[in-house]
Amino acid sequence: MTHKPIRKAIFPVAGLGTRFLPATKAVPKELLPVVDRPLIQYAVDEALEAGIEQMIFITGRGKGAIEDYFDIAFEAEATQRERGKDLSALEGTRLAPGHAIFIRQQEPLGLGHAIWCARDIVGDEPFAILLPDEFMRGGKDNGCMKQMVAAYQQVGGNMVCALEVPIEETPSYGVIDPGTRDGPLTQVRGLVEKPAPGTAPSNLILPGRYILQPEVMKILETQEKGAGGEIQLTDAMAAMIGAQPFHGLTFDGRRFDCGSKAGYIEANFALALEREELRDQIRAFAQAELARG
Ligand code: G1P
Repeated sequence: MTHKPIRKAIFPVAGLGTRFLPATKAVPKELLPVVDRPLIQYAVDEALEAGIEQMIFITGRGKGAIEDYFDIAFEAEATQRERGKDLSALEGTRLAPGHAIFIRQQEPLGLGHAIWCARDIVGDEPFAILLPDEFMRGGKDNGCMKQMVAAYQQVGGNMVCALEVPIEETPSYGVIDPGTRDGPLTQVRGLVEKPAPGTAPSNLILPGRYILQPEVMKILETQEKGAGGEIQLTDAMAAMIGAQPFHGLTFDGRRFDCGSKAGYIEANFALALEREELRDQIRAFAQAELARG
């Protein structure tokens, strides 16, 4: 059976980024760089790699720089060109005309509400969601979303990324109540947003990558507030279980929580070590620094 292709992705980028103040006072947190590319660029690259064409950004006040970022930088590009400089670093920073869509979430009512703001653009097709704070580094071959799209093409329905964490971290996340497992695929029997300590149904969390059927928008439309008084995407997804196939995919790769300072620093360190031109210097520095105690 063939399943409808995933052509659209939603990137919720309206969050205030208060954990990174004062850095985020004037710069959206999604534009903070990991080595030399902004966090949002990695998420867009991940979507492009998965064959997704249209990027829908849910923004808010003070996030205009993200829109500029995905535009053509005429002055900088012309100057670089005149100087005979290489422009390849800008690859992926401009999307095809009409393929970058910006919608403002006027009030911070929760992740579910942010996603619902894109309902008319998504229309009647399945779509992806990528939370850019969650930096997913795919294993040798493919990025996280590409792996998810491949799994979705097999089983259809709804597909969330599933990640094991220490059980005491579960109160910070959406958590899966797992059914049968088949290799990296786990059947999702239930979902709970930010369970109270000691009540999580498993240690399998939702690390911010989703492929969902458009029916979720109808559920979000009428949804009551959930955990933290916010309209929760997790609750709307939970309402679809049973009516549609629902799986979690344990992806091959690493995840960095770039919504936290430690995770952000770890991502910079790990990515620097991946880069040939930086590797030796950074490794030598880290070793010397650790030896200092
Ligand atoms: C959101 C989701 C949660 C998910 C998490 C991943 O929570 O509501 O289900 O596990 O992102 O980072 P937030 O971090 O916005 O509180």
